[in-house]
Amino acid sequence: MPVSPSDSLWWRQAAVYQIYPRSFADSNGDGMGDLPGITSRMAYLSALGIDAIWLSPFYPSALADGGYDVDDYRNVDPRLGSLDDFDAMVAAAHAADTRVIVDVVPNHSSNQHEWFKAALAAAPGSPERARYHFLDGLGDDGELPPSDWPSHFGGGAWTRVVEQAGPRAGSLGQWYLHLFATEQPDFNWDHPEVREDFHTTLRFWSDRGVDGFRIDVAHALVKDMSLPLRSKPVLEILVDDGTDPLFDRDAVHEIFEGWRSVLNEYNPPKAAVAEAWVPFTDRRLKYARPTELGQAFNFDLLQAPFSAVEFRSIAEKCLFEATASGASSTWVFSNHDVVRHPSRYALPDGSTRDDLEAWLLADGATPAVDLARGLRRARAATLFMLGLPGSAYLYQGEELGLFEAADLPASALQDPTWFRTLNTVKGRDGCRVPLPWSAVEPNFGFGGTPWLPQPVWFGSLAATAQDGVAGSTLEMYRSALSWRSKLQAEETLEWLASLSPEMVRYRRPNGWEVITNFGATPTQLPHDVDLSKVVLSSGGNATAGIGAGRVSGAGSATIPAETTLWIAP
Ligand code: NOJ
Repeated sequence: MPVSPSDSLWWRQAAVYQIYPRSFADSNGDGMGDLPGITSRMAYLSALGIDAIWLSPFYPSALADGGYDVDDYRNVDPRLGSLDDFDAMVAAAHAADTRVIVDVVPNHSSNQHEWFKAALAAAPGSPERARYHFLDGLGDDGELPPSDWPSHFGGGAWTRVVEQAGPRAGSLGQWYLHLFATEQPDFNWDHPEVREDFHTTLRFWSDRGVDGFRIDVAHALVKDMSLPLRSKPVLEILVDDGTDPLFDRDAVHEIFEGWRSVLNEYNPPKAAVAEAWVPFTDRRLKYARPTELGQAFNFDLLQAPFSAVEFRSIAEKCLFEATASGASSTWVFSNHDVVRHPSRYALPDGSTRDDLEAWLLADGATPAVDLARGLRRARAATLFMLGLPGSAYLYQGEELGLFEAADLPASALQDPTWFRTLNTVKGRDGCRVPLPWSAVEPNFGFGGTPWLPQPVWFGSLAATAQDGVAGSTLEMYRSALSWRSKLQAEETLEWLASLSPEMVRYRRPNGWEVITNFGATPTQLPHDVDLSKVVLSSGGNATAGIGAGRVSGAGSATIPAETTLWIAP
């Protein structure tokens, strides 16, 4: 059934599947996923039961940061296809009742963007330089960067250029700001041409039929560049009152109000979701206001341990946040920037972000991980999350239960983090390995020799190995996404008492219930749970393991360890 043009609120409880185009499906055998590859898998996506796909950048790029270094915002990287291929993909998606969201990267361009090339060629103080942040350095000869700001990927956030024009032509001169890689110069959002150009980009893709936008680093566009620049040796948001020089400044909201006006030129209005790593306060709500983007990612579940207390308090808090802002909540466990969640949950309890990085650096060898437990928890977490009101953002391959490819050889790594930290932080390549479609075909059915090597264990998790297999992760996602539409009548839930601190139980207004046992041992189910109504279990078949034993003296059955059940009214 084609998408309904009149449904303007489709995004509020959508299941959105993130595609990292280079790693999804390769149609021409060059080892890099492409747009025709996505089109060729539309039937798979539709059968999965998602409402929309979100494409990470597919624009022309030298791939210094996996495409988040954009050369041209209104074109397609020729290695990934053409604008005609894009149109064909959108048409195929819409014919399959699937919306399309594209990534917009407004904080920085690439250093190959025509504006940045013009800025390098022009003299200090020129109009060409004014679209970026160029400053003289400190020190007697400007040899020190203008501030101590670090880059997200390691190293400093300033790079000094050799001047091509002006009195210093031929010698080292000004510095430009890049909060990410050297190849990603930050735009100056005080410049009217920058603002206008992004409106043009939003209209360009909207006119081609996209249904929404994901806004990269939305909280960073406006910076306090008043001199002298303020010190900020660590990039975390240290304050949440708008006084941080780099992130979440009040003036950013005026930009997104302007974007909303553009997005509302369309009927239905285009959807938008902010990637804004802002701590939970009412400041985060602002990005999601109906007058701005509509949604903002909350990454709280993604950062939380697998714990009843954490999951419930995060869900309560984020639902409150969504209601207060007039938005709907967003849920996400994995994306192209983080270690895949079955691997995160397989690490010893209490592992920190530093522990995760150390584990990656040790090629996943130490500490030992319990993969079965990681996947069991990931599946339980997924069903806990897919039952909640709001939008679920799923990352390609999580429906297969893919783990992180933690032992990629150093020679294969491409993430700028690896290079900019001088090989001390491995980075994000392990979650970006091209997908295994087939257990038996070369390159697991991805296409040509993949740009990142696939691990041998990909075969057992390939889509064909799980297709039609009862209890497989793929079939669990398909069932959950198909049942999910029945849960979603209203965007609320009621928390119910449970019999154990390890158990969380909630009910949607139409009577659907979700129960998760976060504990490591089976536990008693509440007496009023009717086992005949269990339609889905993260443990496998709907009733696998349930009622297998009765807790002594109790009248009801047990739910297995680290398991979620869906119960129909
Ligand atoms: C967030 C994106 O998700 C990430 O992949 C990218 O490296 C940075 N923004 C910079 O664009």
